[in-house]
Amino acid sequence: LKWRRVGLAAVLAGAGLGGARADELPAKPWENPGFNRPENAQKREDLEYTDMFDHAAARPPRSLRSLKTQKGAPLGYGHEDGLPPMVLLGDMLFHAPKLLGPHPALFGVSCASCHPGGGASRDIFVGAESDRPGNIDLLSNYFTPLADDGVYAPRNVPSLRGVRYTSPYERDGSKASLSDVVAGVVSHEFAQPIRGDWLNALTLYTSQIDFLPNAQLDALGRLTAKASDAARKGEAVFKAARPALDGKSCASCHVPDTFFTDRQTHALHHGKGEHMLPSEAFDTPSLINMVESPPYFFDGSAATLADAVAQIDAQQQLGLSPQDKAELTAYLEAVGATDELPRVPTTAELVSEPLAYLQLVLGGPLQDDAEIWSMCLDTVRHMLRGAVRQASGPERTKLEPLVRSYEQWTRSPEAQKPSAAGRTQLGALREQLAQASAVKTKAPKGAKAP
Ligand code: HEC
Ligand code: HEC
Repeated sequence: LKWRRVGLAAVLAGAGLGGARADELPAKPWENPGFNRPENAQKREDLEYTDMFDHAAARPPRSLRSLKTQKGAPLGYGHEDGLPPMVLLGDMLFHAPKLLGPHPALFGVSCASCHPGGGASRDIFVGAESDRPGNIDLLSNYFTPLADDGVYAPRNVPSLRGVRYTSPYERDGSKASLSDVVAGVVSHEFAQPIRGDWLNALTLYTSQIDFLPNAQLDALGRLTAKASDAARKGEAVFKAARPALDGKSCASCHVPDTFFTDRQTHALHHGKGEHMLPSEAFDTPSLINMVESPPYFFDGSAATLADAVAQIDAQQQLGLSPQDKAELTAYLEAVGATDELPRVPTTAELVSEPLAYLQLVLGGPLQDDAEIWSMCLDTVRHMLRGAVRQASGPERTKLEPLVRSYEQWTRSPEAQKPSAAGRTQLGALREQLAQASAVKTKAPKGAKAP
């Protein structure tokens, strides 16, 4: 989390919420004395303190199963039309800060903050509940006191790519089904109620998140001609049986033809285990696409794949030679590669996604559902603000006033519940936003793949 602390201080001061110095801001803004005063209600609503994203940073693209069948739209940041309504609903909910309760809403935290594009955030950092970027203890009192289990155990955020193939779930493999995990995240970790059909939609969307393509691997997890010689030698190291692993190899647990997992839990781990829970079991993670989601292991204790190999060697007492280690690293880099590295999305891409969510309320089977209406309008507001924050120059000049009109409109009587009149107004705003953002521009400077 890159707290833009100066910006936050200005926001707090501007809102009359205290003259805190940037370096002594509360980690939880709602603990600021002025924060909960009734007269600040509108200001609280107006502020979005920050976003767990650094908006100028590169982020991973998304690969959705139901988009793959559509010509020319296999991957991306923006949103292509034509998702089935329940997938689109799940997509919207995945990006909805209000779904996770009032405090996440203030931070602009949604599922997508920790799992951007369905991958894993490398830099989420949530106050005392994180011991390093990319790790967080969700069973803490940070977002809600109801989640606190009294044990400090930050865990590295896992990627959700290909998640439908990689049960069981959670780092300890304690959840058998995807809907159990999703229900647990919303109702336990964030202590929010969730409608049954929303849970289904969110689970459906999550199950659609696919691995990113990797030209170095075929469908059975074998290296292709695109892989280097070093990687090929490393494959032999990966598959060699080792006495220190009870005669097993890396491939016994990270099974190549089942996405490099055996779908089992083990008493073994390769992490440093600084914050272990008693009698912990560890789910074998997939190794596909892992180059985009360092740090590695359940505790995020290895920063690079070379570090990871050195740590496995030490932890499991394998006695690998320097050459073995270099080759094994090359193999892991090939297995974990992706053809689509993170990049900064364009403004058009950032705007097209929330505008696609408006399909939910502008027509179709869900258009008269009042709860979907208000959750959708708020999520779109949050994402349009994010797009404005990232835009610059003429593009921003064009977009910002329209986003402001949208926000103003969301406070009008017509926006409070579904109606034909509201839909007409909203449809017109959507059209203007679409036109304003269709400008083709380059990604902001400094955008480069890590
Ligand atoms: C603040 C960060 C954060 C947010 C927000 C968040 N997650 Fe997670 N997610 C995590 C972490 C950390 C884990 C690993 C927890 C563990 O295993 O102990 C995880 C695990 C998961 C898993 C299990 C993956 C696996 O392979 O084991 C799924 C599925 C998941 N999250 C989906 C969601 C959904 C859906 C939402 C929104 C409702 C969400 N997450 C919101 C951080 C987050
Ligand atoms: C007995 C099963 C088992 C064997 C054998 C095994 N692993 Fe693992 N591996 C796991 C488990 C369980 C985890 C998750 C626990 C952790 O993070 O430490 C894991 C995690 C990993 C990760 C981290 C992935 C990520 O995204 O964080 C890498 C890399 C890895 N293993 C590589 C290897 C290599 C290379 C070998 C062979 C030298 C190997 N493993 C042998 C079970 C195994």
